[in-house]
Amino acid sequence: MKGVPGHLAVIMDGNGRWAAKRARPRWMGHARGAQTARELVAHCARLGVQHLTLYAFSSDNWKRPREEVGFLMDLFASHLDRQLAELRANGIRLSIVGRRDRLPPALVAKMEEAEARTAQCTRMHLRVAIDYSSKAALQEAFARVQAEGREWPADPLLPNVDLLLRTGGERRLSDFLLWECAYAELAFIDALFPDLTTADVDAVFADFARRDRRFGGLNSAPVPVGSA
Ligand code: FPP
Repeated sequence: MKGVPGHLAVIMDGNGRWAAKRARPRWMGHARGAQTARELVAHCARLGVQHLTLYAFSSDNWKRPREEVGFLMDLFASHLDRQLAELRANGIRLSIVGRRDRLPPALVAKMEEAEARTAQCTRMHLRVAIDYSSKAALQEAFARVQAEGREWPADPLLPNVDLLLRTGGERRLSDFLLWECAYAELAFIDALFPDLTTADVDAVFADFARRDRRFGGLNSAPVPVGSA
């Protein structure tokens, strides 16, 4: 659909503040955020987004209290259990990006099962980043290419991000898809992630549709070779 980003990446920030505003424990914000993530996925698939990458847990999030980390790992596992049928019904392929070796083995098993059982789905590709660090992913990719004596490929990792959305009012990338965001349009909104609505997403897409993406050229229309 015109104006809809081919690849949307979302930094789902503000769960803790959402809970604090209600004098609730942080985990309630994450639980509510998981519901919002589910609605966001369905809405993006409806609108025709091809790739959606969600930042669910950064490699720096291990610094959080053990109880919060444990809650998030359990939430990811139960979310996978509950969402698998819906993903398949909606034609959504799931991939998990990030390190797997530090995750609970039961969660990794569920991730692998969900990936295998949605592998044939083609309507939208959902990537959930868990224990993800863009710098670490790049270091690993560089090391792999060097070890194999290959040329550095032009686009070795994920498809380029068209639009990066961060909720929660902060304006930073937090080690997310640094390479892939080379020409991403950036959208920062104040809504805390659990409060994000489909109308907010529509408004962000409408703004994205009005942007003139020149990719370093002079205008977005193809320039005839040799024109003065
Ligand atoms: C950042 O908010 C959010 C996280 C670290 C967790 C993100 C997880 C979810 C939205 C739920 C699960 C998602 C899926 C796809 C199953 P924060 O805790 O840093 O919020 P704060 O800045 O207000 O403290």
